[in-house]
Amino acid sequence: MPWLTTHPLLRKALTAAACLLVGSATAVTASPTATAAGTTLGTAAADSGRYFGTAVAAGRLGDPTYSAILDREFNMITPENEMKWDTVEPARGSFNFGPGDSIVNHASAHGQRMRGHTLVWHSQLPNWVGSIGDANTLRSVMNNHITTTMNHYKGKIYAWDVVNEAFADGGSGQHRSSVFQNVLGDGFIEEAFRTARNVDPSAKLCYNDYNIENWTDAKTQGVYRMVKDFKSRGVPIDCVGLQAHFGAGGPPSSLRTTVSAFAALGVDVQLTELDIAQASTTAYADTVRACLDVARCTGITVWGIRDSDSWRGGENPLLFDNGGTKKPAYGATLSALGGGGGTPGGGIVSGTVYTLSAAAAGRVLDQPAGQNGNGTPLQVWDGGGASNQKWRADRNADGSWTLTNTASGRVLDQPANQLGNGTRMQVWDANNGANQRWRADRNGDGSYTLTNVASGRALEIPGGQTGNGAAVQVWDANGGANQHWNFR
Ligand code: G3I
Repeated sequence: MPWLTTHPLLRKALTAAACLLVGSATAVTASPTATAAGTTLGTAAADSGRYFGTAVAAGRLGDPTYSAILDREFNMITPENEMKWDTVEPARGSFNFGPGDSIVNHASAHGQRMRGHTLVWHSQLPNWVGSIGDANTLRSVMNNHITTTMNHYKGKIYAWDVVNEAFADGGSGQHRSSVFQNVLGDGFIEEAFRTARNVDPSAKLCYNDYNIENWTDAKTQGVYRMVKDFKSRGVPIDCVGLQAHFGAGGPPSSLRTTVSAFAALGVDVQLTELDIAQASTTAYADTVRACLDVARCTGITVWGIRDSDSWRGGENPLLFDNGGTKKPAYGATLSALGGGGGTPGGGIVSGTVYTLSAAAAGRVLDQPAGQNGNGTPLQVWDGGGASNQKWRADRNADGSWTLTNTASGRVLDQPANQLGNGTRMQVWDANNGANQRWRADRNGDGSYTLTNVASGRALEIPGGQTGNGAAVQVWDANGGANQHWNFR
């Protein structure tokens, strides 16, 4: 509302009127707690319901500089090598969980969650597995490895990379050659996921790969087709990990499109092994933003802490230098996450009154004039600047937002227990329930996707319905313009 800011007296009068209206409609009790933005990578990511993790090498945990950074900055850990087949089962039936356990114990002592990495992978695979030529033997060896490993860590792993790097580089879009592919055929990936689900139904099951960040690449398309097929046939898969090992040029410009396309299949997406040659600030910030732009991009993990911890010797690809000092890319990452004094998503200021304009319609979120009661259904309408079209944004302790209509004093509410696609939004007395809290994630066009904390679905107007009176509802996030809202 630029004219408001240029007319201070008018602005004052309107603000006073809005306050009176708020006061008369309902006794708004304590407003939700406003909190400072996150000051570490982990807390800043948590402000939007995400995690920020790192790969950890068990052998470095005794290094005080390393573990101090780990425990201050990161709330998710991936073992860099300790849960791989060559460490866990070096000889058939002989399991060694010591190195993995030391990392899991560290994580549980410091409140960090774990990604398990990895169960079925052609690399770091002992020779005894690689030399099996009989399908029944290999099937039973693979399933036993998954079962024994997942059972050992049951209840301690948030997500498993069940199958890692099964697709070929180059233009084929097909599986790569490996002992699993060559002896068991295409079905080995599906079999691994089905086995994993049976062992630990509460762990999220992910497919993880590199060079699947650029949307048009044959490898990306191959993985996309597999996930789509799995979802359509009920093969259990919960997430896709994009490793995000980038060159000095940073992420491909289509990264957001790729993340959003996978998410639209109904899986979570994570950036699982991020590192960028020479760690340019723009490249890191662009990468983080591509994740934040998509509601189902639920976390980012960097592949190591200091440059000296990286597998990419000499490329300085991480967020801390060899001495453990924060590099410029650290600051860029933190502020892209909304931390370090900013606000999540970059621009919403707690306590400020906004109009919320639906990007697809150019019309604003509207509580029909004069209808101030609990349960009033919401719509979009031409913006006129009246109090029934204004919403005060208050930041909650969990980083989400409560949006209070200045005419009714009631809040934007997804009816309790009605979590499905197509549920129409209403206003209701504030009670700080999850159904009244909204995560705001910034999109590339400066708008926000507003995700209801209870349903995980995005605030939208139905596709193609842009007229006055169009219903405001929730639906699975799909990145569409009908789910984009501008705060003005
Ligand atoms: O521990 C042995 C040591 O005893 C031996 O003397 C030495 C001789 O080379 O090797 C040491 O093992 C090395 C191991 O890392 C632990 O440092 C292996 O050689 C080395 O190959 C291994 O590299 C790991 C690599 O995966 C193997 O493929 C990297 O640390 C690890 O960062 C990297 O991680 C992978 C992900 O798992 C999957 N995606 C790609 C990513 C980067 O390659």
